[in-house]
Amino acid sequence: DDPAKLAAFQARIDAGEKVEPKDWMPEGYRKTLIRQIGQHAHSEIVGQLPEGNWITRAPTLERKAILLAKVQDEAGHGLYLYGAAETLGVSRDEMTEMLLDGRMKYSSIFNYPTLTWADMGAVGWLVDGAAIMNQVPLQRTSFGPYARAMVRICKEESFHQRQGFDIMMKMAGGTPAQRRMAQNALDRFWFPALMMFGPSDKDSVHSAQSMAWKIKMNTNDELRQKFVDQTVPQAEYLGLTVPDDTLAWNEAKGGYDFAEPDWAEFFDVLKGNGPCNVDRLEARNKAWDDGAWVRDALMAHAEKHANREVA
Ligand code: ACO
Repeated sequence: DDPAKLAAFQARIDAGEKVEPKDWMPEGYRKTLIRQIGQHAHSEIVGQLPEGNWITRAPTLERKAILLAKVQDEAGHGLYLYGAAETLGVSRDEMTEMLLDGRMKYSSIFNYPTLTWADMGAVGWLVDGAAIMNQVPLQRTSFGPYARAMVRICKEESFHQRQGFDIMMKMAGGTPAQRRMAQNALDRFWFPALMMFGPSDKDSVHSAQSMAWKIKMNTNDELRQKFVDQTVPQAEYLGLTVPDDTLAWNEAKGGYDFAEPDWAEFFDVLKGNGPCNVDRLEARNKAWDDGAWVRDALMAHAEKHANREVA
């Protein structure tokens, strides 16, 4: 890229201007956005699977209706995000193919199983809680369509987070067996939730450039720290124990000291070796293959109409 153009672009970013799809942008900026927005969209879509698993087994009609609405919201988030990525010159079909053959990632968290109803609480509380922590700042990201998509997504995510916490309150305040389920869900989801923010800053490949371009507004470790600081008092309110013996308030830094997740496990999950990676990709491949006739029928219908208009 021409250095003068790059400098002018950076000056626009530094001045807080939004970049729109038809504006000139460095190729690296475009590629980084396609990677991040695409991965984000895929996460919303694959993220429907662990919760979809419980729709038929929700304990009451009301819980079932809420969960159904939440899972549908995730599909909507995926669509806004695919739409935002498409403005950068990549099609939704191309992105889907890259997800299905493993060239594009989705969030590590969705490779963990949801074993009990309490997991619906933990997913809403912790996973959507972590997602919001990351996405609220992204409302100010430099790429206009991504920033605008985030506004609506964050509103819906905050409802998701509350419904998860509400399930946790019911379970934690319930029978001893329900309490144990709530604690067990927290035990299993705590570290995977911390991993959602990405590797520690020293191992984050993209943070420096993405922050200079305001594609990311905070580093991975900054957001992880904020998440811990927000969530620990919530666990205390629930009367549950965060599964980290080293957790301690650090007055000097005004935040908690906490144990890092097992990064070897994180990178292993990214490589495809998490408990559910194979299942998740199989489910998405099956949905894509099973939907082929619908796509074909829509194309045939559109062609018939186009021909009719000509005639
Ligand atoms: N799960 C899967 N892959 C991850 C994760 C994760 N939790 N964290 C980081 N990675 C990947 C990155 O994609 C990158 O891989 P790549 O170079 O092959 O693309 C690699 O690990 C190195 O990490 P970073 O350099 O730190 O990557 P990046 O700057 O993209 O930061 C982050 C990762 C924080 C997830 C960023 O992409 C982001 O903010 N994305 C938008 C939010 C999002 O995707 N949320 C999805 C989960 S929440 C939900 O949808 C419900």
